[in-house]
Amino acid sequence: MRVAIVGSGYVGLVAAACFADLGHEVVCVDNDSAKIAALVAGEVPIHEEFLPELLTRHRGKRLKFTGSLPEAVRNCEIVFIAVGTPPTPQGDADLSYVEAVAREIGLQLNEYAVIVEKSTVPVFTCQRVRRVVTLNASAPIEFDVASNPEFLREGTAVTDFLYPDRIVIGADAERAAQILKRLYEPMTSGEYYRQPNAIAAPNASVRIPPPLVITSTQSAELIKHASNAFLAMKISFINAVANICEAVGADVEQVCQGVGLDSRIGQRFLRPGIGWGGSCFPKDVMAFRAVAQECGYDFGLLEEVMRINDEQRNRFVRKIRNTLWTLKSKRLAVLGLAFKGGTDDIRESPALALIEELLREGCTIAAYDPAAMDRVRAERPELGITFCANPYEAADAADALIILTDWDEFASLDLARLHTALKYPIVVDGRNLYPPEMMAEKGFMYASVGRPTAAPSHKPVLSATTVNGSTR
Ligand code: UGA
Repeated sequence: MRVAIVGSGYVGLVAAACFADLGHEVVCVDNDSAKIAALVAGEVPIHEEFLPELLTRHRGKRLKFTGSLPEAVRNCEIVFIAVGTPPTPQGDADLSYVEAVAREIGLQLNEYAVIVEKSTVPVFTCQRVRRVVTLNASAPIEFDVASNPEFLREGTAVTDFLYPDRIVIGADAERAAQILKRLYEPMTSGEYYRQPNAIAAPNASVRIPPPLVITSTQSAELIKHASNAFLAMKISFINAVANICEAVGADVEQVCQGVGLDSRIGQRFLRPGIGWGGSCFPKDVMAFRAVAQECGYDFGLLEEVMRINDEQRNRFVRKIRNTLWTLKSKRLAVLGLAFKGGTDDIRESPALALIEELLREGCTIAAYDPAAMDRVRAERPELGITFCANPYEAADAADALIILTDWDEFASLDLARLHTALKYPIVVDGRNLYPPEMMAEKGFMYASVGRPTAAPSHKPVLSATTVNGSTR
């Protein structure tokens, strides 16, 4: 099928590469000419596993890039809108990019097409897109507007797209529903997964083929907002439970295991930490709250979900302060700058928010992140962070190591080397990557989230310690 995707951000670009891998002819449109030039030249603008392979496989063949929306729209039967919907100062979604694209599509449409909303948008956006396209069409043209929300996570975007828990198609017209069903047929028929060069399943528990859910456009729009809000709520809930665990000396990991084994609750997205961030949850929870308000429903629960999240960061700063006593002039080694592991995306990063707070308190920061350092260097030079080549360089002579994201690399550190590098063997872990008892055994004072702080029993922690037998 011939597919145009307007917007080449995380969702647009990954969807374009994956649709090409499913066998479709895809053209990706963006008004950022530098980005298009880079994509044409073979660059990969985001850190995403399997994306470089897919772009190499299809670039210039089934996957093309252009700055010309008219060219793309006039040749395609399906036009996806995957542009940004950032929050306004009031918290609702800024839909001006969606409207601008809808207007241009209206001006260019010359034969039937399905216009599909893939960006996360408030309920009724499909209806508004329909109206804008109709108002701008130069001649009466038949078209449909549908919603096909995307549920991929950054860091695992390609496999999330190709092995989704479900595919949701919100279409009010049968013709549009049939076209979108055909688009996903390589997945729903299982055919894609039988191909020898298909991207491999991330684990054995993925559902093949994925179930297809056909709904009205309003329901599909709500499915997306409700899903993100629920996941954010689940994380805020477990963070609140973690705080109770700290108060009573319980271990939140044990609590999570016991709670998550209830199949009605599930283990996933039940990891406590420093709070959720990123370009989706903060924006979408606020936007869903605004949607509810507009419909006359006071969704106060979402207010609380956001409040717990903000408080979680403040608590973590207090935890670092409690562990180190004072923060002024302390040199801290920080692992993780992005909003989570596996990505270079620093939008709404809890790690950066925490670093800002630590800098305000007078700390100096030596940081390491496997993917996000270039971005922080370019976009946040005012922070004055020292960037390091690896975790041990960051830890060198530091008063403590602070873990802020959950990269696999951070969960498998050479602890003896780390111990030697640090000035004091103190680790404050915002992602619970290590068992506390093990860290104590290895000679660390180890504070984490929702678990008792562990300290080695055989030597004082807050004084200069002996390392490998010699006094530092
Ligand atoms: C999220 C959703 O998970 C996707 O389904 C959705 O498609 C996407 O938003 C979107 O709307 O585009 P993403 O923002 O990429 O995906 O990242 P997540 O893996 O969901 O993590 C979000 C935040 O929650 C991160 O800061 C992460 O560290 C935190 N988190 C996640 C936890 O603190 N605990 C958990 O158990 C899971």
